[in-house]
Amino acid sequence: MSRAAQQAVRLVEVGARDGLQNEAQVLTPEVRLQLLQRLADAGLRTLEAGAFVSPRWVPQMAGSDQVFQALPERPGVTWTALVPNVQGLEAALAAGCREVAVFAAASEAFSQKNINCSIARSLERFDTVLQGARAAGIKVRGYVSCVMECPFSGRVEPEAVATVSAALYAMGCYEISLGDTLGSGTPRATRALIKACSRVVPVAALAGHFHDTYGMAVANVHSALEAGVRVFDSSVAGLGGCPYSPGATGNVATEDLVYLLDGLGMEHGVDLDRLMAAGAFINARLGRETGSKVAQALQAKGRLAIGH
Ligand code: HMG
Ligand code: MG
Repeated sequence: MSRAAQQAVRLVEVGARDGLQNEAQVLTPEVRLQLLQRLADAGLRTLEAGAFVSPRWVPQMAGSDQVFQALPERPGVTWTALVPNVQGLEAALAAGCREVAVFAAASEAFSQKNINCSIARSLERFDTVLQGARAAGIKVRGYVSCVMECPFSGRVEPEAVATVSAALYAMGCYEISLGDTLGSGTPRATRALIKACSRVVPVAALAGHFHDTYGMAVANVHSALEAGVRVFDSSVAGLGGCPYSPGATGNVATEDLVYLLDGLGMEHGVDLDRLMAAGAFINARLGRETGSKVAQALQAKGRLAIGH
């Protein structure tokens, strides 16, 4: 890795999907669209804009087709969507989506609860999704959930995560995002996880997706950075959770991640003031306080989010 690449981090903003899918309040496609535009205005370049999943399972993501149809082309910006099967891929393509993500789990129990099938069956489905995506000329990212622990069956071994990661990578996912769904991981466990996964997937193709339930997400990002990972998923204002993971809270807040990267002198391309404005916008719509410690601290010092 060149020195420039070592110092640059790519952020994948998942607030409009992972964040909003777990809010009790269902927001209109119009509000979700406004959030996404504000996040792109802040400099985020890869943004998960929705999910083409069953609206019976996740009502918050209904209307993702309307979001994608209204999203403008922006140079350098990629709007992505979660798809669990070919039906989701077809809906995503029809709405104009040009990158999708499939989502597997490292735990059988979670796979059943989340997508109603075994890990093996999900991988067969994803292989078909990958074939369809290849034919349509679009890229596919792969998620692995429960990389540390499963809410239903407990501890998950790094080798189990590596096995699923390798399968997704082999079928053509360009990047594997490792999801600490419960947010219970620690820096030491993160090190072991990256070590196991980078034996089977190049570290440049690994991403960290840390929920912050136990307050460890920033520490885990740091640990993954030290292990060579340069792509991280985050949610503005720490929005998020997972509907099938009781008690799990949001992803690492994008504001907290940006502050960490600034402190480390690493490039990320995000304007913190504009990001805080996007956070203030969505918090006001949801009637919630920010989940970002950095946003709380800066607001307490009187640094108001611009536009508010
Ligand atoms: P199923 O009930 O087994 O599906 O659900 P099915 O194939 O038997 O079909 C049943 C009905 O669902 C049919 O409708 C299908 O048309 C419909 P009906 O004939 O009864 O009216 N259906 C769909 N509708 C819309 N879009 C689709 C679709 N597929 C089937 N793509 C299914 C299986 C996968 C669909 C369901 O379990 C589902 O939608 N699950 C979504 C779960 C989800 O979105 N979870 C949250 C995202 S994952 C996450 O947050 C973790 C992550 O952040 C990483 C981490 O933190 O760990 C990524
Ligand atoms: Mg998640």
